[in-house]
Amino acid sequence: MNGFGFNRKIYICVMTEKDFLPKPYPAAVAQGEVTWQSPSNIALVKYWGKLDHQIPANPSISFTLDSCRTTTTLKYSKKEKHSDNFEFELYFEGEKKDSFRPKIQKFLERVEPYLPFLKDYKFIIDTSNSFPHSSGIASSASGMSALALCLMSIEKQLDPEMDDKYFTRKSSFLARLGSGSACRSIEGELVVWGFQRNIYGSSDLYGVQFRDEVHENFRNYRDTILLVDKGEKQVSSTVGHELMNGHPFAERRFQQAHENLDRLKKIFRSGDLSEFIKVVESEALTLHAMMMTSQPYFLLMKPNTLEIINRIFKFREESGLHLCFTLDAGANVHLLYPEKEEKETSEFIEASLKQYCQNGQFIHDGVGSGASKLA
Ligand code: DP6
Repeated sequence: MNGFGFNRKIYICVMTEKDFLPKPYPAAVAQGEVTWQSPSNIALVKYWGKLDHQIPANPSISFTLDSCRTTTTLKYSKKEKHSDNFEFELYFEGEKKDSFRPKIQKFLERVEPYLPFLKDYKFIIDTSNSFPHSSGIASSASGMSALALCLMSIEKQLDPEMDDKYFTRKSSFLARLGSGSACRSIEGELVVWGFQRNIYGSSDLYGVQFRDEVHENFRNYRDTILLVDKGEKQVSSTVGHELMNGHPFAERRFQQAHENLDRLKKIFRSGDLSEFIKVVESEALTLHAMMMTSQPYFLLMKPNTLEIINRIFKFREESGLHLCFTLDAGANVHLLYPEKEEKETSEFIEASLKQYCQNGQFIHDGVGSGASKLA
């Protein structure tokens, strides 16, 4: 039994860490190259707080995005002589990027038990983003999921019989070890990560597609990202998650995430957009409330973030439309709205919200179907 009073073992399709340890590989590969493109995602119920080994303190659910993507090419060649270290070179948008090395080194250390071939190869990792550099858009989700998929493509060559379901599950499992939210970027359109009693197949170890009924109101849902502050993040997510250890409201918050996921499950079925707004906006503000009430405390919203939120409230009241907002751990605002309200909402963004974005910048995106292999 876990802290929530139900037994995880009843869901027999849920895999354990051991299921991701490979057997000796039947094939050999000398060298090659693979390219994956993987999207970012936006959480509706937020992951904030974790246990050891990247286990989330509560379940989360996200829309997979479409246009905000990372493209990663991984070149690999077998080392002539075995060495006991990871050999890799890193390029970001065509330029050598040594500042990413520690994060990648840590990722490789974490995934090595599950990919025992890593020290047999030299790697060149070449990565680029579709969204502007340092826009404050989380690139770790798209970046880590793209890299995990590239590594899985190598494993698939070493084990050609591997089935697609295992490939997807393990890619998500590995991506999680790089960055928690990255495990929700492999598939679309709605992905749940973290065990939730009544979501079939849900697991703390990887993301799964939300397979319940989803009302057509949520088909092709739009997400416009307002770039309010493109500066370096004031709080890294690693530090942020740690703030939940010993946080006075942590336990109640983790429980609330379960409740909100339950509420969303019903909302997806009924198509009730007003209820959707209540859950999603409350989740965003709760995330920030957790940061404002931790020790040390952080205030990540900017005056323009609040101005935008107030304008959304007013627009909703006056228009009767269903535009709502969510936030990540920063000042940027994600505007979520149904496809059929796109015209009026886009006009409102141009006329009334654009002015609060840094250099008037925003990105129109929407729900997408997950990562794709390019080569
Ligand atoms: C606020 O996945 O970036 O975006 O596991 O430490 O890499 P690490 O954290 P990360 O945290 C994302 C937090 C969030 C909410 C969410 O996406 O669920």
